[in-house]
Order: sequence, then C-alpha cells, then structure tokens
Amino acid sequence: MTQLPTPATRPDDPVPRPMGAHLPHEGDDGLYTQSWYPICMADDLAPGTVVGAEFLGGRVVAFRDAAGRPAVVSAYCVHLGADLGVGTVRDGLLRCRFHGWTYDEQGVCRRTGSGDPVPDGARLFRFPTEERFGVVWAFNGTEPIFRIPELPCPEDEVRAGRGRFGHLAMEPWMVSAHTLDLQHLSLPHGFDLKVPPADTVRSTAHSHGYDLVGSLPDGTTYDVRIDIHGPNLFLQTGLLDGRWYFWMTSPSLPAPGRTDSFFVYGVRKDESESEEEAQRALRRVFEAQMQFYSDDSDIFDTIHFQPGLLTSRDSTLAMFLDYLRTYPRANPAREFLS
Ligand code: FES
Ligand SMILES: [Fe+2]
Repeated sequence: MTQLPTPATRPDDPVPRPMGAHLPHEGDDGLYTQSWYPICMADDLAPGTVVGAEFLGGRVVAFRDAAGRPAVVSAYCVHLGADLGVGTVRDGLLRCRFHGWTYDEQGVCRRTGSGDPVPDGARLFRFPTEERFGVVWAFNGTEPIFRIPELPCPEDEVRAGRGRFGHLAMEPWMVSAHTLDLQHLSLPHGFDLKVPPADTVRSTAHSHGYDLVGSLPDGTTYDVRIDIHGPNLFLQTGLLDGRWYFWMTSPSLPAPGRTDSFFVYGVRKDESESEEEAQRALRRVFEAQMQFYSDDSDIFDTIHFQPGLLTSRDSTLAMFLDYLRTYPRANPAREFLS
C-alpha cells in the first residue's frame, strides 16, 4: 500500500491569509496618528456651554474662553475625576460640578471650590485647538506638526455648508485611503479618468494627493486636486461641471476602529447670481458628493479594511499606505483621557 506523505501542517493549523506589509492601527501601543481631528461643530459650542466628545480612546471637552476662542481639554477633573462635560462655563472658565475646581482655556486650575490653595501641577491636558470652516478641531500632540489647509480664496468669499456622516466602524485613515483607491473609481463609481492620477501624485511629509480629471457616466465632469493632509483630512478643490468648489471630509478619531466623518463644502460667492441660484450651486456640490458616498455606503458599512494583495492599478493607494506606515504617531495626553 502506498504511504501518504506526512502533511507539513496539521489539519487544525490556521491557513495563512495573504497580507500586505504591516500597517499600524490607531491605538496600537497606545499611539494615534498625529493630526487635526474634528471635535464638534462650532455652532454647537455656544459661549457659556461645554461639549463633551470621545477622542483618542478617551474623553475631552470643548468650551470657549472669555474672548470666544474654543479650547479642547481633557475631560476628567484632576481632583477626583469628575467629567467636566457636566460642568459649567462662566466668564470663559470651566468649573467642575463636583467640588468647583475651575480651569482656564490652557487647562490650568485657577481656584478650588473650597478655597483651599490650588495644588501644584493642577492642570488638564490642553490640545492645540482651531476653529476653521465652522468646525472645532483638536490636534493630537502638544504642538501641531502641520496646519489645517487653506482654501485658495478667503473663507468669507465662500458660500459653505457642512454636516456629519455618523459613525462608521473604520479608522479615519481608512476613509481617506479609499480616495486614493483608483480601482474603485471605475467600480463602483464608473469614473472615466482622463489623466492617469499616478502621474500626478505629490507628497510632502504631511500630505499626499493627486489630480482627478474625468467624468461620471451621467456626464458630470471633474477637474480637481485631491489631497489628504495628515492621515485623515481629505480636501478636494477644483471644478465640478466647470464651477469652482471645495469639499473637505475629515474623519474624527473617537476610539480605535471608529470614526465619524465631518464634512464641509462650498462654492465661491458670485454677486451676479440670485440667492436661489447660489443655493442650487451649493446643493449641486452636495448631491454630487452624496452620489459618491451612496455608491460606497454598503461597502463602508460592512468592510473589514485590511490591505492584502495589491496590483499595479493600486500604485497610488500603495504609495499612501507607505506614507501611513511611517507617519508620526503619539499620545501625549494618554494619562489624562480616561
Ligand atoms: S472632582 Fe472636580 S472638583 Fe472634585
Ligand atoms: Fe468612493
């Protein structure tokens, strides 16, 4: 009787799955990509109010100082850990509900509720904070390593809209990565590329992008520059059916494996057009972008994003994944956030 060869593996050994080179996930080793992340809409942060939000696997609060400037600080009071999100704001100072310790916009405790002297080192973690495009942003770091991008025209020359997509079980960079996934432009979007995007890729230490020129099956034309700033801040500026517009999507980073994308968009104001025409132009931008998101939505709702085996058409995506592999990661606030 013929002897069967001894198998190299046992029947219950796992079969290795084809995987790309290692790419760290948010929260691996307690670290997160260093970028600007949206915390809340600026309109939701009225003077005298406090807004709590999840950030970097922990919790932060936003409030406005006496001059109306937003500040984002760690949420847990350094006395006994009460959530400052249920505190109060008066004269630009944030007061804990529990025993009245009161913090300024730098996160420094100015006084205790009891009148006892403030202990040395009584301060929250204060994130670099910006209010731009109607959104309050915080930077994961002690100092920003890049600035939130500018539009090619002043913000007050733009008619803008904004919103949020709601929670996705993805990390912010996964949302950005799909914009560099040229295979998916053909399917599911049906985009007809006029210029090979791989020829137009430009990278800096903190951005990565390409030119998108072509059309959709319904005849909609695009001639735009797409750049990802940091790992997550997706900005497109250019012409939609010949009219200048911008669209920015910025996925937030509440916790590993989760995001909530904020978006802002706009058209340049044109004094010669009526209010109705201007609103129609703005709605056109919104609807065109929503068509992209509609094409992708069931994929995004179900994907377990994992770079595996790529082909030559994935070269633009592969370049972005390489950029992410060496992208700075940090978490200087980690001891404050939970
Ligand atoms: S826990 Fe905030 S003042 Fe005591
Ligand atoms: Fe898409």
